[in-house]
Amino acid sequence: MASQPSVSFGVLLLPCFQLLDAVGPFDMINSSSKEYVNLLYPPLAPKAVSYTWHYISTSGDLTPISATSGPLLQPTCTIKDCPKLDYLLIPGPDPTGPFPEETLAFIRKVSAEAKEVLTICTGSMVLAAAGVLDGRRACTNKFALKALAAEGKHRKEVKWVTDKRWVVDGKFWTSAGITAGIDMAMEWLKDKTDPDVLQLLLDASEVVVRTADEDPYAHLLDGVKL
Ligand SMILES: *[C@@H]1O[C@H](CO)[C@@H](O)[C@H](O)[C@H]1NC(C)=O
Repeated sequence: MASQPSVSFGVLLLPCFQLLDAVGPFDMINSSSKEYVNLLYPPLAPKAVSYTWHYISTSGDLTPISATSGPLLQPTCTIKDCPKLDYLLIPGPDPTGPFPEETLAFIRKVSAEAKEVLTICTGSMVLAAAGVLDGRRACTNKFALKALAAEGKHRKEVKWVTDKRWVVDGKFWTSAGITAGIDMAMEWLKDKTDPDVLQLLLDASEVVVRTADEDPYAHLLDGVKL
């Protein structure tokens, strides 16, 4: 049997994005990869998927990027020369923007071409600003949505979901605040990963996964008019 082609995944490194939004999901996803499984338990490696990761700069060059925490991060491509992506992950930046038009144009292009787009936390606000969430259900960081809504600055064309950890609408997977992205990534992996590989990932990472409905933070948006 021919080996499966590598799945290409982009991570959009917007200025000052939340570090855990990105590394939570991509470390979980990459830990289900053939390469990682081969380190952990080689007999299962043939059942695992290979991922190719592209870290995408929006600044026009490969200058290292500061997240909210952690070391400087080296992008591998820019929005101008990013290879074709199967999936795009957008970790959350400062939700007030403004987001440059070239960044929004890149998001619109990838949203049309890619299989799925995943956002964590305020990442969905960039997707919303690009217009691709209009008429769709989406989660975002509830605290940030409340603050934007108080000033009427949230995108009203989006059907914001206030009581879930994450939601899927069409090809768009959007999660609520920071750590909800890990729950969403685990759900995303379910139908893309061999069950034995998924169990290995669960056992090795000791992750405690919450469902979309187990949302102890839904009260943050009680009474907020959206
Ligand atoms: C994915 O995991 C493998 C095994 O740890 C590692 O070699 C590879 O660099 C990881 N890929 C990325 C992009 O982090």
